[in-house]
Amino acid sequence: MEKLIIEGGKSLNGEVRISGAKNAALPLICATLLTPGKHILRNVPDLRDTRTMLRLLENLGVRHARKDDVLTIDSSDLNGSEASYDLVKTMRASVLVLGPLVARLGKARVSLPGGCAIGARPINFHITGLELLGVKCHLEGGYVDAAIDGRMQGNVIYFDMPSVTGTENLLMAAVQAEGTTVLKNAAREPEVGNLVDMLNGMGARIEGKGTDRLTIEGVESLQPADCAIIPDRIEAGTYLIAIAATGGEGTVTHCNPSHLPALLEKLRATGLKIEETDSTVTVRQPNGNGQSGPLKGTDIKTLPYPGYPTDLQAQFMALMTLSSGVSVINETIFENRFMHVAELQRLGAEIQVDGHTAVVKGAAMDGLSGARVMATDLRASSSLVIAGLAASGRTEISRIYHLERGYENLVDKLTALGATVWKEQD
Ligand code: EPU
Repeated sequence: MEKLIIEGGKSLNGEVRISGAKNAALPLICATLLTPGKHILRNVPDLRDTRTMLRLLENLGVRHARKDDVLTIDSSDLNGSEASYDLVKTMRASVLVLGPLVARLGKARVSLPGGCAIGARPINFHITGLELLGVKCHLEGGYVDAAIDGRMQGNVIYFDMPSVTGTENLLMAAVQAEGTTVLKNAAREPEVGNLVDMLNGMGARIEGKGTDRLTIEGVESLQPADCAIIPDRIEAGTYLIAIAATGGEGTVTHCNPSHLPALLEKLRATGLKIEETDSTVTVRQPNGNGQSGPLKGTDIKTLPYPGYPTDLQAQFMALMTLSSGVSVINETIFENRFMHVAELQRLGAEIQVDGHTAVVKGAAMDGLSGARVMATDLRASSSLVIAGLAASGRTEISRIYHLERGYENLVDKLTALGATVWKEQD
């Protein structure tokens, strides 16, 4: 296993190019299962998770080839319908094959994911939604067996709370159902919108993109896709926070600032100066002229999009440990997403957790100091990277395979911004 070493205390400055979004690439890769033929996906990040998803598709008879960031996926010879526990346990998003496999083959066998480092994360919405479309689902031996004779039937499906992959799975299931399906209280995340665009480009008829009500008129057939993955808003947010936390000034490029409404306002609330163009965001220190100064403690509450994203909660917490005040961080999406707190405390952060709320006492004057810490999940790990970059001295982060799931060329990108960071065998 590899670990990441950071010699902290250097400010990050300059430009960093944002990759395609992991959480858009994963459902779009699965959508290629819907119809035979050669599909083209552009701006696809090369990550551990996208490779895992492609391995899963390979096991089902799907072929693929990558040239730079363009992925060609040929799903003509699809001959399997199972996602095994071995794959699903390493990547919960594997459950996204459920909807498209039932739609194409009339059956699927997908392992239940089980709990993970950030919470229980059930898939009951996916299953009850499929049942409403006429699919028979049966749970046995840790797997969900889904099957239907003939086409699915359109229906109204209400989500008790917006679910990103739940909405995506049911979208993919419903595009070829007979009649109209309405998804109510659907997730509004930009990654869902990316999938809607891909499916409509394949001949689907989906209305309501970007709203919590998606109406799908079922079509008889689809054609192969040619679609670009949207920029990764979580990667963009992570670099903005990292630059700010180290007292630097810099720009994230090739991103979509309109996908970061809550984060950019919260960064402004800390006193940081944020400038946006159509495809870039620049962060500058409150005092201007490259002078870093104490940031104001700022509260956040994670919510479904367009609220503050849970996937940027841990990173913002790392920033708040360096602020001049107190900030209250309320996590409402996942019940166990404070695993980074104990690790940040090892770097000197003052944080108290009570249930879903963490209270961070900023330590701008004292700062953080490097230590050995452990990565527990993807976003928790990136908060440790941010804290390590801002801390004085050396930080060693073990189990960095978590980071490789979601950040393309992390070490190269940070190095180009001026960080001293490298990987070593643990
Ligand atoms: N939920 C249920 N039942 C379901 C589905 C969801 O109760 O059947 C609950 C969840 O337990 C959670 C809430 O609904 O409390 C929202 O979960 P959601 O289903 O939206 O999460 P997800 O689709 O499993 C995606 C991202 C996550 C991101 C969340 C929230 C992908 C592949 N994953 O997960 O990304 O945190 O939405 O925005 O899109 C990450 O990239 O690090 C990551 C964890």
